Amino acid sequence: MIDTLRELEATALRELNAIEDEEGLERWRVQYLGKKGAVTQTLRGLGALPPEERPAVGQAANALRDKLEAEFAQRQKRLLEMAAQRALSAERIDVTLPGREVSLGQIHPLTSTLNEILNIFVMMGFQVVEGPEVEWDYYNFEALNIPPNHPARDMWDTFYVDADHRVGEMLLRTHTSPNQVRVMEKTRPPVRVVVPGKCYRYEAVDASHEAMFYQVEGLAVDEGITLADLKGVLTSFAHLMFGRDRRVRFRCDYFPFVEPGAEMAVECWVCRGQGCRLCKNTGWIEIMGAGMVHPRVLERVGYDPSIYTGFAFGMGPERVAMLRYGIDDIRLFYGNDLRFLRQFR
Ligand code: PHE
Repeated sequence: MIDTLRELEATALRELNAIEDEEGLERWRVQYLGKKGAVTQTLRGLGALPPEERPAVGQAANALRDKLEAEFAQRQKRLLEMAAQRALSAERIDVTLPGREVSLGQIHPLTSTLNEILNIFVMMGFQVVEGPEVEWDYYNFEALNIPPNHPARDMWDTFYVDADHRVGEMLLRTHTSPNQVRVMEKTRPPVRVVVPGKCYRYEAVDASHEAMFYQVEGLAVDEGITLADLKGVLTSFAHLMFGRDRRVRFRCDYFPFVEPGAEMAVECWVCRGQGCRLCKNTGWIEIMGAGMVHPRVLERVGYDPSIYTGFAFGMGPERVAMLRYGIDDIRLFYGNDLRFLRQFR
């Protein structure tokens, strides 16, 4: 009988140690330790044994039950640990993996160019102000010495709010120059302002013309301002913006609201004056119109032209950005093409 118990122990332990899961464990418990299990049956069967064998067999069976219970608990614990281990390694985070790229926005190349332009003028003591994009005919033309039917209006054909284009109506401003008048109406000299903003023209769109574009207007009015101030300020601007070694050129030009009038060009970025596609083989790129504020414009806002003089300029920041970055088509600024924009990160 004792031998049978030993064999039972050996088989039970061998089986127990081979068990890998919960169900196997439960089956084993029922088989050996359950109410109808082998050990329980043995203990129940003690009464059938001869009295002198009972104590020894009883003791051995009890010891076996204790041993199997202890081993069972051990195995159960071990299986739980193994399961936890498996779960941990399956869920482990590999901190050495490269992260996922976060896509960050960026400043549009035209906006950053505008900011640079404004910073340079702020550094020279100019204030930044803004004005309306939908403008009265009066400010866009008349107050700037461009009366109705003046041929210069052809240079600035635009979109009218009233389809009949009646003089006196509202329109999309064709330049930022109306703000010369708006600012002077509200303040007395000395005046030093720059006015950035969108402008609109009825244009045939091509590589250097858009129907919507930016300008930065500049205006300085005070006693004793001369053409030398205009040249000095704008040359300094060009040197700060493009580098000291960049040549600039002033030539006569006509705008009804200045006298004399000029246009300023900068040596071409791409060819350095040799002539190329970007500068249409001239070696120069025009970036602004400028001039001494016309006495009639001053008079209209109540400034005495015998006391006050001033200069004004209107520059195209798209042109400036094209010069800086060697961009050869203005339409790229408004195309929302990420392949273009990503180059300016
Ligand atoms: N407003 C003019 C234009 O749009 C530029 C300019 C501004 C010229 C100021 C002279 C003075 O072409």
